[in-house]
Amino acid sequence: MNIQPLMLKVDLSDRSYPIFIGENLFTQDLLRRYIRGKQVLIVSNPTVASFYLDAAKSACLDLQCDIVLVPEGEEYKTLATVSEIFDTLVEHKHRRSTTLIALGGGVIGDMTGFAAACYQRGADFIQIPTSLLAQVDAAIGGKTAVNHPKAKNMIGTFYQPRCVITDINTLKTLPDRELRAGIAEIVKAALIWDADFFEWLEKNIMKMLARDSRSLVYAIERSCAIKIKIITMDEKEANIRALLNLGHTFAHAIECELGYGIWLHGEAVAVGIVLAADLSYRLNWFEKDSLLRVKNLLTMAELPIRLPQSSSVPKLLDYMSTDKKRDESGLRFVLLKGIGNAILATDIDMNLVQEILVNHVGEDGD
Ligand SMILES: NC(=O)c1ccc[n+]([C@@H]2O[C@H](COP(=O)([O-])OP(=O)(O)OC[C@H]3O[C@@H](n4cnc5c(N)ncnc54)[C@H](O)[C@@H]3O)[C@@H](O)[C@H]2O)c1
Repeated sequence: MNIQPLMLKVDLSDRSYPIFIGENLFTQDLLRRYIRGKQVLIVSNPTVASFYLDAAKSACLDLQCDIVLVPEGEEYKTLATVSEIFDTLVEHKHRRSTTLIALGGGVIGDMTGFAAACYQRGADFIQIPTSLLAQVDAAIGGKTAVNHPKAKNMIGTFYQPRCVITDINTLKTLPDRELRAGIAEIVKAALIWDADFFEWLEKNIMKMLARDSRSLVYAIERSCAIKIKIITMDEKEANIRALLNLGHTFAHAIECELGYGIWLHGEAVAVGIVLAADLSYRLNWFEKDSLLRVKNLLTMAELPIRLPQSSSVPKLLDYMSTDKKRDESGLRFVLLKGIGNAILATDIDMNLVQEILVNHVGEDGD
């Protein structure tokens, strides 16, 4: 039985857009409502394209439809890859009225959005997220970027899509490890904003891992609603939007230290969440019982809760110091005052941070 499609609205005055969540949504009827010109460029990678490119193309039958397949993986989220997208747009004479369609996970979405923002000073783009992580997080909110070899997402811009089309049937082909990585961002959303949702996750995590459609739709909808609430208050991360970076200062350092693509972004986020929760606990802001609940939920989701054995704490601290979340007042952390209650904090004792990192390296329990 088909799940009734849902529509959420991101309300950002002239940059407002809908998010559709449901099954069998790759239809000409839906896509064409958000394409203004007569040209589209679909950006995807070979894996995702093998499953979904035909369906996406058939929704664009009466348009000039060009395709760029970029190599797969975080290590290709670079200016060089975006340059290939520009080459295709120019070679095929795409006008400013063209629409770029991101068909894939967060890597494809971030790069396509960035290319759309730059091409002829701004072309339309549509997000068709196919990984759980992109459906609950990356495809929403208009952050677009590529990586610098030494810092994640360092080169980018805010640029909102025309719409987001989340077809949960795409999750059927998503590898288990990628599904779990998406669950890390869902746990993050609940921890930041919504204690009831966190409790729901504790009760329903096994159903989500078993890919129960109704549970997935519910979790995607709740996560999107939390993100929408936050970004509509602070589109360009002047303040409250930074809460969405819970765990990310640590996660970006882990990804840089290991090398892009060794751990998945969501896996690094899971450990980052534990480190942020532990730091909050050590500052007496977060209950021991809450810390245990966070670790239990991530463990149930089969996500890592400790740093890789090979981690070098001095290097992690160094990467953290170049993170974007550093401003003039120093490194800014997102910490927890309770489940569903995140806050921004500066002036954190870096000796304490170092101690927590050391305590979390490798396999041993606490
Ligand atoms: N813009 C934002 O606000 C934001 C937020 C969170 C994360 N991100 C970015 O998102 C990226 C991570 O996204 P991700 O986890 O989607 O990684 P990803 O884009 O690398 O996709 C994960 C993997 O799953 C494959 N895949 C995707 N959909 C599939 C499907 N339906 N079936 C089979 N395979 C499929 C991809 O080919 C890839 O190998 C990072 O670069 C991160 O920085 C951005």
